[in-house]
Amino acid sequence: MAEAPEIAAPEMTLEEIVALCKRRGFIFPSSEIYGGIGSTYDYGHYGVLLRNNIKNEWWRAMIGERDDIVAIDSAILQHPRVWEASGHLEGFTDPLVDCRTCKLRFRADKLEEAQCGRKPSKHPGEFAECDLTDAREFNLMFETHVGPVKDQGSTAYLRPETAQGIFINFKNVLQFARKKPPFGIAQIGKSFRNEITTGNFVFRTREFEQMEMEYFVPPDEAEQWHRYWMDERMRWYTELGIRPANLTLRPHGPEELSHYSSATSDIEYLFPMGWSELEGVANRGDFDLTQHARMSGEKLEYFDPDRGEAYIPHVIEPAAGVDRAMLSFIVDAYETEEIEGRKRTVLRLHPRLAPVKAAVLPLVSRDGMPERARELYADVRAQVPAEYDEGGSIGKRYRRQDEIGTPWGITVDGQTMEDGTVTLRDRDSLGQERVPADGLGERLAARLGEPWRTPKLG
Ligand code: GAP
Repeated sequence: MAEAPEIAAPEMTLEEIVALCKRRGFIFPSSEIYGGIGSTYDYGHYGVLLRNNIKNEWWRAMIGERDDIVAIDSAILQHPRVWEASGHLEGFTDPLVDCRTCKLRFRADKLEEAQCGRKPSKHPGEFAECDLTDAREFNLMFETHVGPVKDQGSTAYLRPETAQGIFINFKNVLQFARKKPPFGIAQIGKSFRNEITTGNFVFRTREFEQMEMEYFVPPDEAEQWHRYWMDERMRWYTELGIRPANLTLRPHGPEELSHYSSATSDIEYLFPMGWSELEGVANRGDFDLTQHARMSGEKLEYFDPDRGEAYIPHVIEPAAGVDRAMLSFIVDAYETEEIEGRKRTVLRLHPRLAPVKAAVLPLVSRDGMPERARELYADVRAQVPAEYDEGGSIGKRYRRQDEIGTPWGITVDGQTMEDGTVTLRDRDSLGQERVPADGLGERLAARLGEPWRTPKLG
């Protein structure tokens, strides 16, 4: 197992990130007016826009920039036998202990991360009164019932991963998309796990969104494709602005491997709480197709006309989480600095990820500036996502845009009324240049297509 890199001092606390996300409408605790429900979150306006941009970038990498991967959107409720075949019914469990004294429940393998119910704060088992049961296996799937009758035959499960919806469609895609290995099927969608230990904000929740791609390859090419996808996925994060020093690839030890995997490496990110999994890249071998073929009676193989034989493809799976990706992009982009004696918080997001690309601001609310700014706003908005804001001092309006990561501020001032130019403010350098208002939207749209490097790299 590779050594985890040394933990550098975090640049901020998770609490600062949580506060920014609430203050600026990215993420709210769910059901807050009823006191909240453990570890579920609602995404506000900027959160939705940022998540959409992350998902769009993932689709771009999977489908827009290549032609060997197709998309799918499978159902969340699937036949219960899917989970029997996949091994989830039997093996998707965490070891659990109960404390007979405080009546709380903990993951047996994560006691050192858990807090005992008593005060002062200690780990379960550390008080003399702690009375822990033996560990027993707890299945993480959410159970529900399909139809009006709640009996054994109506039991169904909310999917714990999107991957199985891809495997059960292997035959459909092979026939209708006319693909041959190596090829992939990609999916983004919600998954559900009744996690015992949640926490660290949106890092581990019970309802989350995954971006998973199953890449079907000839068995003798599996290792080489596994390496390929680890490199590709690392590149995706760094090209979108994550600093390479905050990312690492950690191969699983034999005791950590999932029941389906012969090799998995986690892409880990240096979150404020330390190095933790951002994405897994697994070699699933032929486990899933073999299991579904056996349970369903369908042949799930590929006949290779060149080799004159049929084979069950092996599967390489990059499996990412939208919520964790979002958290890592926000954490990596977050910075506070002092400008002329005042604190500025800024999200130095990749412009393509930024929820809003440009803010159009009249310098003052008179002398025809709001009217001119609104006209310009309509032009810019037709090209890139933009906002118009005329409330409060210009400094306050810039600060607000800095906190949501808007890369460009466009200010309409007295000179605009005379010569048709505006100031274009850069979020990162704070440089301001005078540019013609005409065609500005088109020029900003073109800049979104250019390679970008985070200014945090110097
Ligand atoms: N199909 C393989 C699979 O699901 P996983 O490592 O269990 O593998 C893949 O999940 C990714 O999904 C993780 O790397 C993480 O980003 C995200 N994920 C998993 N469980 C999560 C949870 N409880 N909360 C938020 N994200 C989660």
